[in-house]
Amino acid sequence: MSVRSVASSSVASAVAGRLAGGAVLSAMAAALPPYRRADLSVDARVADLLGRMTLAEKLDQLHQSGVGDANPHNLAARADELRPTYGAFIVGGPATLFALREALQRRAVEGTRLGIPALFAADVIHGYRTIAPLPLAQACAWDPALVRAGARLAAAEARAQGIDWTFAPMVDHCVDPRWGRIAETFGEAPHAASVFAVAAVEGFQGDAPGAPGSVAACLKHYAGYGASEGGRDYTYTEIAGPTLWRDHLPPFAAGVRAGACTVMSAFNDLNGVPTSAHHFLLTEVLRAQWGFGGVVVSDWNAVLQLVRQGHAADEADAAARALLAGVDLDMADGLYRAHGAALVASGRVPLAAVDAAVARMLRLKFELGLFEQPYAGRTPLTGAAPTPEALAQVEEMAARAMVLLQNDGVLPLAPTVRRIALLGPLAEHRAALLGSWAQQGRPEETETIAEALRARLPAGTTLEAVAGCSVAGDEIGGIAAAVAAARVADAVVLCLGEEPWMSGENASRSSLRLPGRQEELALAVAVAGRPTVVVLVTGRPVEIQMLVPRVGAVLAAWQGGTRAGAAVADLLLGRRAPEGRLAVTWPRATGQVPIHHQLRPRARAGREGAYQDLEDSPLFEFGHGLGYTTFAHGELRLAQPTVRAGETLAAELAVTNTGARAGVETIFWFVRDPAASLTQPGRRLRHFERAVLAPGETRVFRWEISPERDLAFPDADGRPVLEPGEIVLLAGGRSASFQVQP
Ligand code: NOJ
Repeated sequence: MSVRSVASSSVASAVAGRLAGGAVLSAMAAALPPYRRADLSVDARVADLLGRMTLAEKLDQLHQSGVGDANPHNLAARADELRPTYGAFIVGGPATLFALREALQRRAVEGTRLGIPALFAADVIHGYRTIAPLPLAQACAWDPALVRAGARLAAAEARAQGIDWTFAPMVDHCVDPRWGRIAETFGEAPHAASVFAVAAVEGFQGDAPGAPGSVAACLKHYAGYGASEGGRDYTYTEIAGPTLWRDHLPPFAAGVRAGACTVMSAFNDLNGVPTSAHHFLLTEVLRAQWGFGGVVVSDWNAVLQLVRQGHAADEADAAARALLAGVDLDMADGLYRAHGAALVASGRVPLAAVDAAVARMLRLKFELGLFEQPYAGRTPLTGAAPTPEALAQVEEMAARAMVLLQNDGVLPLAPTVRRIALLGPLAEHRAALLGSWAQQGRPEETETIAEALRARLPAGTTLEAVAGCSVAGDEIGGIAAAVAAARVADAVVLCLGEEPWMSGENASRSSLRLPGRQEELALAVAVAGRPTVVVLVTGRPVEIQMLVPRVGAVLAAWQGGTRAGAAVADLLLGRRAPEGRLAVTWPRATGQVPIHHQLRPRARAGREGAYQDLEDSPLFEFGHGLGYTTFAHGELRLAQPTVRAGETLAAELAVTNTGARAGVETIFWFVRDPAASLTQPGRRLRHFERAVLAPGETRVFRWEISPERDLAFPDADGRPVLEPGEIVLLAGGRSASFQVQP
């Protein structure tokens, strides 16, 4: 990590203006305290500054405060609540944010003894001012470059507003769509989450986290939070060792290797020890094993919650446990500040532990260049509306993320369609397209699906929009009008889904059925028997098994961001073809959850052991997704029938576009280990690749298998095990076997 380009302090530049030459500059630098000298190493600066700090100043550095009220003029009245010596703030809020940040920073830099700048963080999850699709949707595009560029755009907009640090990417492993935060994940495949974690870190941090247009990234929530029991948020998790190491930890390890500056400890209790007090995870694995040297921040109030979770006896005990486990920065609850001094005085917490945490905070600030450039400084992006380039970028992301789940030929809508009934409560809903964590995205600037469709309809085609019912609740007064509109239409587009707050944090649902009375609306409209397309605006898979046999097409549009409306319209009208593939398994019914591509084989096959009232398969498999062309897959070819550790094995699959349109094919390479000392998933995704194929074009997809990287599985302690024996390779609906030799 390089340090942001060095800028002189105002005093130094005034002096430099009068004098000239390198000698003068170095004499000037030498007059500054060592921690202020950008010519010294970060280590030396940290050591010097730490040596000057009182215990109270140190404990303040380990506190991150929320800033509810974004009015900078109220700061004086809130001086106690928002002390200028605090290490970090979480900022939200709209237009006043920039001024607030500068005012808070001025107090820290100019109004305190040591002038340590504060760090400003925000949840920039899928865009800042211009909103991209949710991470789950982004994953469905299967393109790390897309994720990287999306994070880069978000970073540039956030940085222009004074944000130094984002709480993203979220890389939790989740196989339960009842958990609202599945929307924030990169889907259910740990390999995909690892690839996208790296892409997001690269996008947010760029060449250096302190460079213009970059922010520090944060891998969250470490670890296991996505396995919250029953999909209920903030609940404990039970994760067996091999599963923890195989599914939950790899994306974090990958993000650490990519240079993520920070990690957030999670809310969940993991097998009896809350993760924000988990010494093994936070210190033995993260720091000792993976060599992570950055800052660990607790999640919001997670230190305090140790008491509620039945782990800490009281608040002081909670502070001690979190700090000693390896949490550096205490988000929101203030327990380090409140109890740190007494804990040090009693010897429960060694001063060295406080110093180590403070040193990591200071190091991050030096690396971000905050001592040289504490103020954000306006750029053309500050306070600006989304640029045309940004809008085009998120529109592309949205279109590529959407997954066509079913199509009997109704899509793309034919030119003979002259009358469209656009129905459902999501057709003219703006905020729902942005989804949760929409930051400064503005619903009023977000084109609806109705507006986007209208703007693109060929002359002479009419569109009648009828909501029919509310998203949630019992408002069904419009169903009769919706059915009437359907009856006389050439095609029906039915927009169903969730309010933005129904997915995301604290948005668990006991049922995946469409909220409110939407299913009733859909079934009534389906009876009209017109060619019907369902467009789903959701942050998770929802239960649509009743609808699928009754409608022609289903498009999972997700919560696609600022330009989702345009993307939906283009896909429906065939102005571009759908290319997304599910990064998450789509269940038939809520009671099937968890159902996902990594299930291990059960003891009996067929109907034995299956739910007797349901087909024993998901409604749509992981990786499923249709386009407007067709592909033929050749045989899966292996270069040799055997492979050993230290060697590689090449596999190839030829794919031909047999349709009349260009299209995107994504090949997922899975492995199955049919006989292992620890039973293995039915399929494990180990590689993926997408490519655009012109009509008639054949392309050979190739994957070089490395046994250690791709075939080994972790034991309960995370040690990789590579066993000799058969491995089945699956890709493009084909399979082939080879032997791993001892
Ligand atoms: C709680 C959430 O769990 C976390 O993801 C988020 O970053 C923090 N709040 C800060 O807003």
